Amino acid sequence: MSESLTITASSVDPGLLTLPWTTPLADWSGSDIVYLPKGISRHLVRFSALSGRVIAVKETTAEMARREYDMLGNLARLDVPCVERVAVIAGRWAPAPEGSGQRGERRGEDADGTPLPAALVTAHLKFSLPYRALFTQVLRPNTAARLVDALAVLLVRLHNVGFFWGDVSLSNTLFRRDAGAFAAYLVDAETGELHDGGLTRGQREHDLDIARTNIAGEIMDLEAGGRLEGGVDALQVADGILSSYYSLWSALTDQESFSVDESWRITERVQRLNALGFDIGEMSIQTAPDGTRVSIQPKVVDAGHHQRRLLRLTGLDVEENQARRLLNDLDEFRARVSRIGSDEDMVAHEWLTRVFEPVVKAIPFDLRAKLEPAEVFHQVLEHRWYMSQGRGRAVPLAEVLTSYIDDVLRHRRDEATVMGPPTETMSIPVVRSASDDEDEDEQIDWRDLV
Ligand SMILES: Nc1ncnc2c1ncn2[C@@H]1O[C@H](COP(=O)(O)OP(=O)(O)O)[C@@H](O)[C@H]1O
Ligand SMILES: [Mg+2]
Repeated sequence: MSESLTITASSVDPGLLTLPWTTPLADWSGSDIVYLPKGISRHLVRFSALSGRVIAVKETTAEMARREYDMLGNLARLDVPCVERVAVIAGRWAPAPEGSGQRGERRGEDADGTPLPAALVTAHLKFSLPYRALFTQVLRPNTAARLVDALAVLLVRLHNVGFFWGDVSLSNTLFRRDAGAFAAYLVDAETGELHDGGLTRGQREHDLDIARTNIAGEIMDLEAGGRLEGGVDALQVADGILSSYYSLWSALTDQESFSVDESWRITERVQRLNALGFDIGEMSIQTAPDGTRVSIQPKVVDAGHHQRRLLRLTGLDVEENQARRLLNDLDEFRARVSRIGSDEDMVAHEWLTRVFEPVVKAIPFDLRAKLEPAEVFHQVLEHRWYMSQGRGRAVPLAEVLTSYIDDVLRHRRDEATVMGPPTETMSIPVVRSASDDEDEDEQIDWRDLV
């Protein structure tokens, strides 16, 4: 007897019931599938639409789906960047074809049909891309280093909350643009374990070892496919995760000791962590028995220092580096306009309505899926800088905007939801210039410049 479909979700979207759960995911029709770039995976993963948003559906066993669903819930509560869980669909059956055989005719099959794998449904992370879709032709060393750096930050954040990943790789990560850098999100939590008491050094090293091996394999794979810029060493790229990880980890956790008359070093440590994008939730401060020395060690650190400040001042919820960039502009604005004693919140509101929003609103509707507003703003600032450098004088924002929209933004691919081509392999048309000896810059697709 077939069981009934069970849906596990914290808030059930009735639209979930309308998806074709009695059909194997591989056979979902074109009208149920949304075509987006996707990383390499063990299970079948396809994208679909649900109540106006895009979801990812992964077919796996009921136990694995449930475990990953629970884990993604825990990670979200711990405020680490990961995909948002939507539901687990279990008890799926494909009905037996009309008038077909008898009970128990084939293994796992009965008169009512064939059991199908469970499905884990997650929300598609808007404006995110798998690493292979970030560039068209070759991965350049600089892009590779930024991807690895972003992954290192993610790994530090995961380890910081006691999460052992077990399968750290570029394929299990999604990347969003973050003001010239990338922000990494965990997409595959299947092998993860949460340890209440935190991770041991051995566990962290084990994850780093996995990361190195996987990254090296992934980069070599690109190399084998001719998609790695000449001269880039896969092992060197993979090793980059170690240095990035260790330098951030020690900045967050190292004990520091100094003489009591150097107490400014406490403030300095806090500021150093703030600059790295972290807030100290708890710091242990100990004085030596003779009272001459002090040692400090951050105990609880939370990522998102700039994000939180920007959110508090403006209500904008953006990535960490974007927030840093926007806050710099806000601070410059304050220096230009504010009178002594003017309230920070009021100036922030003025900046939002007089500077940020006009830029975002100036973007024509048909170009708004290209980039997130905060990333557009960051790029407009960059563009202003380049234009001003070129002319040796400040260029008015209106002129910068027109030039940015026509010369830069219009030529980018949509990143909100990159629709089509009608296959599931990404084959983005490569923008090439007509003549081979044209300026090199003009030949390079923007994705190779990320
Ligand atoms: N919520 C999501 N948003 C965007 N892409 C996703 C999402 N879930 C899965 N993917 C894509 O599907 C790929 C495979 O998913 P993953 O969970 O790693 O599957 P597997 O467990 O089989 O390795 C990922 O690399 C990613 O590109
Ligand atoms: Mg995976």
